[in-house]
Order: sequence, then C-alpha cells, then structure tokens
Amino acid sequence: MAHWNPSGKLAVVTGASSGIGRSLSEQLVARQCRVIAVARRGDRLQDLADQIGREVADEMLLPIVGDVTAPDTREQIESMVQSHGGTLDLLVNNAGIGGIGPFEQANESRLRKIMEVNFFAPVELTRRLLPYLKSSGDAVICNIGSVLGHRAVPDKSEYCASKFAMHGWSDALRAELVAESVQVTLVSPSTTRSEFFDTLVESDSGATSKSIGSWPAERVAAATLAAIRKRRAEVVLSVGGKLLVYADRICPSLMNWVLRKRAGK
Ligand SMILES: NC(=O)c1ccc[n+]([C@@H]2O[C@H](COP(=O)([O-])OP(=O)(O)OC[C@H]3O[C@@H](n4cnc5c(N)ncnc54)[C@H](OP(=O)(O)O)[C@@H]3O)[C@@H](O)[C@H]2O)c1
Repeated sequence: MAHWNPSGKLAVVTGASSGIGRSLSEQLVARQCRVIAVARRGDRLQDLADQIGREVADEMLLPIVGDVTAPDTREQIESMVQSHGGTLDLLVNNAGIGGIGPFEQANESRLRKIMEVNFFAPVELTRRLLPYLKSSGDAVICNIGSVLGHRAVPDKSEYCASKFAMHGWSDALRAELVAESVQVTLVSPSTTRSEFFDTLVESDSGATSKSIGSWPAERVAAATLAAIRKRRAEVVLSVGGKLLVYADRICPSLMNWVLRKRAGK
C-alpha cells in the first residue's frame, strides 16, 4: 500500500501549543495538510500561526482554544470537522501531562488529573470523531504514548498507568478498525526536550526524568510523521527507549533487577 499522504487532508492535533504537537502541526501544514490545532493557551496557538506565516496559517491552521478534558471542547472540534467537509483524515492524540513522585506520597487527585488528560480525553475525543474518520476511507489515528507505556518505572506510577491504558486501548482499537480503513499508530517516545517537565502535576519542583539521552521535540515530531506516513502500527523511539522496551520484553526479570539496583535494594 502507498504511503499515507498528508497533502490536501484534514487533521486534528491536540496539544499543539508546545513541544511535539506544535512541531508536528508545523510539519503537517508544511506538507499542505490543514490542521485543527487544539490547546488551552491561545497565545501559544497565535505564536504557532505567526511562525507558520499569517497567509498560510489563515488557510491551513484552525485553532481551537480549549481543554481536551471538557466535553464542550470536544464538541467544538467535531463542529470544526463538520464545517470543513465532515471528513477527518488524521487524529493525533498528543496532549499529555506527567507527574513525578512516589505513589504513596501522592493523593487521588494526581492520578485523576493525569488519567483525565492522558487517557479519558483522547478516548472520548476518538469516540466522537470516529464517524468522520471512517468516512475518509484512508484515515489514521495516531496516539502519542510513551516508552513508559511498555515498561513501568518507579516514581511515575500514575503516568505509567495512563500510558499503559493508552497502549492497551490502541491495540484493541487497531484490531476493531481493521475493516474500516482506519489505521491506529502508537508512537512511544522516550525523554523529549519540551515543556513537559515544567508542568508536572503535584510534583516536587526540580523533579526530573532519569533516562539515557533525550530527543528534541522536532525530531520526535518528524519520527511521528514518518510512522503515520508508513502506516506503522507501533514505533518505539530513541536508543534508550528501545533498550528499555525490548530488554524488558526479552528479559523482564533483568529489568526488575536493574530497577531494584537503582533504588539501592
Ligand atoms: N516530554 C517527554 O519526555 C515525553 C516522553 C514520552 C512521551 N511524551 C508524551 O508526548 C506528548 C506531548 O508532550 P510534550 O513533550 O510535547 O510536552 P509539552 O511541551 O508539555 O506539550 C504538551 C501539550 O499538551 C497540551 N495540553 C496539556 N493538557 C491539556 C489539556 N487539558 N487540554 C488541552 N491541551 C492540553 C499543552 O497545551 P496547553 O498547556 O496550552 O493546553 C501542550 O500543547 C504527551 O502525551 C506526553 O505524555 C512526552
């Protein structure tokens, strides 16, 4: 099957105001894909439009300022799709938040906030947009997961749980949609240089991620677009990310030992 071609298509990208979502929106527009760009910070979506250039942005960028956890934002996205032909070719569920710290020291609200943004919002947005994706005849749902949705680590229990949930749901949805010409692509980045660690939920200030290297958001966005174009079911990004995920698949007891050693046990 030929590569998926963004030119002339309509996409929704959530979390388009910074990091991976912003860069992916720019890259899609550069390939003549019209993007419905969703985020809470309107000034940042304005920056994105300025970066793209007013004339092109007026035509190709359709900003929606809203919170993906709010049903009325999801309704607004649906209305925008309807008013642009009623066919959606690409949905990128990218908006996400994290939290760092031991499970025992956190309360219920950290778990609920993270699950609302990272899992329930993309699931319900997808449910709402499925009729429009199915009418494309050649659509892609791209879910931005994480390597921590394949192998969980300490001090990120809520985040890992949300990304494992997204992973499991993506696998089930992919199988359900096989006959509908809707591809489901799960992209699992490792540590990415973005604003992600500035907005951690109910976490100690200065909390960081221990990982082997990091990629800039632009590189993750380019790898995401390549995965969409090649209709990949799943991609795990970066050497450190692959090491974590594939070592765990081959020998989970070794990974348990490594994590125990890092915890000084
Ligand atoms: N950074 C990493 O190390 C890393 C690693 C693996 C996976 N990921 C995943 O990659 C995705 C993008 O993260 P990033 O690194 O690009 O982080 P980022 O720069 O912080 O971007 C997150 C985006 O999500 C949006 N967002 C957050 N909560 C939202 C809400 N309730 N409603 C609407 N938009 C919301 C933010 O926009 P507003 O604040 O303007 O709403 C922002 O545009 C996330 O799903 C994350 O879990 C990141």
